[in-house]
Amino acid sequence: MYATSVAIFIVCFLTGTARSDPRNVPMAITTWTFKNATLRAWDVLSNNGSALDAIEQGVAVCECEQCDGTVGYGGSPDEDGETTLDALIMNGKTMNVGAVGGLRRVKNAISVARHVLEHTRHSFLVGDQATEFAVQMGFHEESLTTPDSKKMWMEWHNAKNCQPNFWFNVLPDPLKHCGPYSIPPKGGPVCPSTTCMPDTTTSTCQPPKVPVPPPCPAKKGFPCRARRRAAPRPARPAPPRCP
Ligand SMILES: *[C@@H]1O[C@H](CO)[C@@H](O)[C@H](O)[C@H]1NC(C)=O
Ligand SMILES: *[C@@H]1O[C@H](CO)[C@@H](O)[C@H](O)[C@H]1NC(C)=O
Repeated sequence: MYATSVAIFIVCFLTGTARSDPRNVPMAITTWTFKNATLRAWDVLSNNGSALDAIEQGVAVCECEQCDGTVGYGGSPDEDGETTLDALIMNGKTMNVGAVGGLRRVKNAISVARHVLEHTRHSFLVGDQATEFAVQMGFHEESLTTPDSKKMWMEWHNAKNCQPNFWFNVLPDPLKHCGPYSIPPKGGPVCPSTTCMPDTTTSTCQPPKVPVPPPCPAKKGFPCRARRRAAPRPARPAPPRCP
């Protein structure tokens, strides 16, 4: 339901040479003004910690402080009211990455990502399997919902009738109603999703909300190829079901 912003941390050593090179200038950079997180990363670096340690520790501060309400637990609840977390860590020397996506019920997403990097040959684990992995690695499983995220979700669901959301070409009309949604029945309005949207009250296809670009003018010598109306597509065959 909510777009998620991302905190990006970069830790680098300016000359790109050995750590012990006196010309080296270590730096910790963050995208937003997450001061405590940046200070933690800097602290790690100035105590001769590794770049990966600095990244992990800095991001972990943000995860606990719930920076901007979009990092860490209790932020950006999804359509079911659940907060899930994404994190990625890259080692610039080896270009190896470890990442988790849609991590459920574990607060320490960046540390789980680092475990993916250092204890598996995978790059990216997602959803419940990422949680299973985290639990095996000793992370604590707990709800990521807070009173604030619950309130945020209630407001979206009850007061705002699930607006905005990411659905289209489903019934009931997602611009007016909450789900659950389904595909419009055969024989009802069939609306090509990029040009029209079904309106459930009138059972017709309505123009999209975004303006359509104007047709290009004909040019001498370069006949304009007007955008051809797309031929109706054959019905998409249902994929075979796994036994
Ligand atoms: C940063 O750390 C200080 C000292 O621990 C704390 O008082 C402050 O609330 C922190 N800032 C945020 C945004 O959490
Ligand atoms: C970091 O390493 C440098 C060079 O090896 C050393 O001089 C310095 O005392 C170390 N700093 C800390 C805080 O350990």
